[in-house]
Amino acid sequence: MIVLGFETSCDECAAAVVHNGIVLSNVVATQIPFHAPWQGVVPEIASRMHTEWIYGVASEALRQAGLKAANIEGTAASAHPGLLGSLLVGLHFAKAFAWARDLPFIAVDHLLAHLYASRLSFPDSAPPPYPFLGLLVSGGHSVICRADNFDDVTVLGTTIDDAAGEAFDKVAKYYSFGYPGGKAIDDLAQKGNSEAFKFPMPNLHKLDKKGKDHRYDVSYSGLKTAVVNQLEQFRMTDNTTDADIAASFQKTAVEILLRALFRAVEDTGLRTIVAGGGVAANSYLRSRMAEYAKTAAKRSGGAEQLRVIFPPPELCGDNAAMVAGLGEQYLLRGDRSPLNVSASARVRAFKKGYP
Ligand code: KG4
Ligand code: ZN
Repeated sequence: MIVLGFETSCDECAAAVVHNGIVLSNVVATQIPFHAPWQGVVPEIASRMHTEWIYGVASEALRQAGLKAANIEGTAASAHPGLLGSLLVGLHFAKAFAWARDLPFIAVDHLLAHLYASRLSFPDSAPPPYPFLGLLVSGGHSVICRADNFDDVTVLGTTIDDAAGEAFDKVAKYYSFGYPGGKAIDDLAQKGNSEAFKFPMPNLHKLDKKGKDHRYDVSYSGLKTAVVNQLEQFRMTDNTTDADIAASFQKTAVEILLRALFRAVEDTGLRTIVAGGGVAANSYLRSRMAEYAKTAAKRSGGAEQLRVIFPPPELCGDNAAMVAGLGEQYLLRGDRSPLNVSASARVRAFKKGYP
């Protein structure tokens, strides 16, 4: 099925065409330079720019796929979570396109699309079978989950305060490392000493006294406070540079995620980990997970094969190929969204304990 997908949940204006799980085009027009002066996404600017750009981006996605509007067999768009005014632009464009051409339409969840993204990187072979353990790390979410199908996800753990990407963005903003923060810190950290500062890891098990189980949860407010307000308390060496702060922060931020994730690997016995979301592009996270898989195999004499799957970098951040790919799965199954479906800023589905 040839599906045209749209993604406008934040500051990327994106359209893509996917056919039988193969990406025919994946156009992302980024608004980063327009939000950079504010060191963060300005919702009003984002939605106005999506309105101006969406037609051009959709046309370019068709052109790069070598197709015309008449070749499209269905449309899909992110409907939640995200900035409401921005989501509505892509959603309504996709609905109007479907209505005008009498095509099936599906509204999809942006987070499920991130989790689906890596499946598009297997054009010549079968993607990893379900179930697998998902690590969903973006600017707004940090989720460890069990995925039994593209639309059947059980949240095992999440953040109790800030998301991982949010912590990268806030630290980068405070120290003026660059915008957007995640990539800026990742680049800067390459030249830094990750042992220069020994930042604290959260002790979530202490919260268990309240009767809550935080075994797979993460927290970033303590790390953020340590890096921003208490830097000197955690210094291990003299004459440190910005790169040392970035490297030490990045290491701790990733280790917080991995500690929870590796617990989930051990407890669930699932042997495949699939990552998704903007933070999945992080080079330290990618190398640490590869190292973990290698160590597990070595320790077990090759008996334990842990598979770690990351989307290619262009499918980690916001893009429409993941939306079109996930949309194709729903549409092939016969699922349809009504043309009066609306967008929502938040989503209940990614709360712990769901479904
Ligand atoms: O998935 P995404 O593009 O948008 C959301 O759905 O939120 O994720 C954006 C987040 C931002 O917080 C950004 O700083 C972070 O992903 N990010 C990174 C890297 N590239 C993007 N974080 C760490 N390392 C990176 N290389
Ligand atoms: Zn996203």
